[in-house]
Parts: sequence; C-alpha cells; structure tokens
Amino acid sequence: MTLEYDPSALDGEALDALLYDRLNPWGIADAFYLDLVMDAPTVLDVGCGTGTILRRARAEGHAGRLTGIDPDTAMLDQARETDAAEWRLGTAAEADWKAEFALAFMSGNAFQCLLDDATILASLQAVRRSLVDGGSFAFDTRNPELAAWRDWNPDHPYETTDPLGATVRIHHEAGEPDANGLVPLTTVFQGPHWDQPLTASRFLRFIRPAALDRLLAAAGFEVAERFGRFDRSPFDPAASVSIVTVARAVRS
Ligand SMILES: C[S@@+](CC[C@H](N)C(=O)[O-])C[C@H]1O[C@@H](n2cnc3c(N)ncnc32)[C@H](O)[C@@H]1O
Repeated sequence: MTLEYDPSALDGEALDALLYDRLNPWGIADAFYLDLVMDAPTVLDVGCGTGTILRRARAEGHAGRLTGIDPDTAMLDQARETDAAEWRLGTAAEADWKAEFALAFMSGNAFQCLLDDATILASLQAVRRSLVDGGSFAFDTRNPELAAWRDWNPDHPYETTDPLGATVRIHHEAGEPDANGLVPLTTVFQGPHWDQPLTASRFLRFIRPAALDRLLAAAGFEVAERFGRFDRSPFDPAASVSIVTVARAVRS
C-alpha cells in the first residue's frame, strides 16, 4: 500500500476502507466475476470498492474498456493507485453512461448497500441505461433466509494486521432486520494505536428474491441465471447463502 497510513488520524469508516483488501482476500466470488469480465469487451464495475477485480482483469490481459464507479473516496483512492481502469466517484444511480457496456457487475454484496426500493430501482435503471441491449448485469446479495446477521456478534471476533504490522481485533454487532429487511451493522476495531475502539456503522438490506425480481423487471432486466453460490450451484430459496443473479438487459 502506498497511500499514507496515519492511524491517529483515522476514524472507523476510514480504517474499514483501508483494511478492506486485507480482510477480503481473493476468493471464489472474485473468480466468478473475473470469468465474466474476461469474456466481455466493455465492463462497468458498480460499487467497485478498491477495484480488485478490474485490476486483476487488466493484469490478466483484458484489453478492452474497464470502468469502475464507487461513492466512497477512501475505497476509490485505493483503486486509483493504478490506471488499470477508468475510476469514477459516484453511486450506482449516478451512472450516466448510455449503452456503452456489454457487462456490468456489482460484487461483494455491494447491492446490499442499496437500502430501499426507490434506490434499487434508480440504480438498476441507471445500470440498464449504461448497458447495450442484451448486455448482462451480474450481482450478489445475501439470502435473508440464512439470517447471516445472527453471526455478526462479539462471539465471532477475528484479527488482521494494519499497514504498520500491528494486530487489529475486529468484531461486528448487528440487530435484527426491520420490516424492509434493513439490518443495522456496526464493525468494532481495537488495536494498540487507539485508546478507544473505532467503529463503522451502516445498514445492509436483505431483499427477498421475489421483490428483487419485481425491481429487475421494472428496470428492464430479465433473470438469465441464478445461483446459490459462486460455484454456480443452483439457487435454493431455503438453503442458499447468496442470491447470485445474472440479469439480461431486455430491449425497452
Ligand atoms: C462490500 S464493498 C464491495 C466492494 C467491491 N465490489 C468488492 O467486491 O470488493 C461495498 C461497496 O459498495 C459501495 N457502495 C455503497 N453504496 C453504493 C451505491 N449506492 N452505489 C454503488 N456502490 C455503493 C461501497 O462504497 C463499497 O465500496
């Protein structure tokens, strides 16, 4: 990491972003998206975060147009350490490209940052406008049936090291979802640099497949493929960890 790291100047949100790549090493989900990216000539990564997948695609020889958009400057600053792609600051709903991409994707459960139906619809419509007719939008969101938030508690701590080599101990605290599937989530960071824990709080939305599909249809998408895991096993509403969707942009 070449970005300057001053632990005394960080708040919890900034620390969360700075530790993101350490806490989320390359895995099967990234490989799933990378395969799609390598097969597409023009790609938009929505909620690209630190840009891991597009950077890997370029390193593996993708010669086409790669574009990432994310509203979090602390995440995007890390992506901008390379020119592997064009990096744009903004939300999904602010994507203003017109029929320029064959593939858009939203990885790492970024879709769960879209907290209400109006935001999801505006985001899907902007992605749809950015895609050519017949283009694909691939994304994942955790299956509410498996209630992942029940494991996000102090009984499940884990550790990483910060850029100075200090151990940072981390745990989550989450509430139960409200009627709209919104789960409050706080991540707590403790380490030798800080007298008090640093915290980062957000909501994540857990949406059910039927509601998701209504919004996709309203935005001009049809579900082409749906998996329950990134090994491409079929989606099982009662047992699948994730709702992994590849939607096709239909002619509007
Ligand atoms: C868990 S990270 C995933 C990052 C990346 N996609 C990955 O797979 O590593 C979620 C990302 O979604 C971004 N995000 C939050 N709200 C968003 C929105 N409305 N539109 C697009 N991205 C958003 C966050 O800034 C964050 O970078």
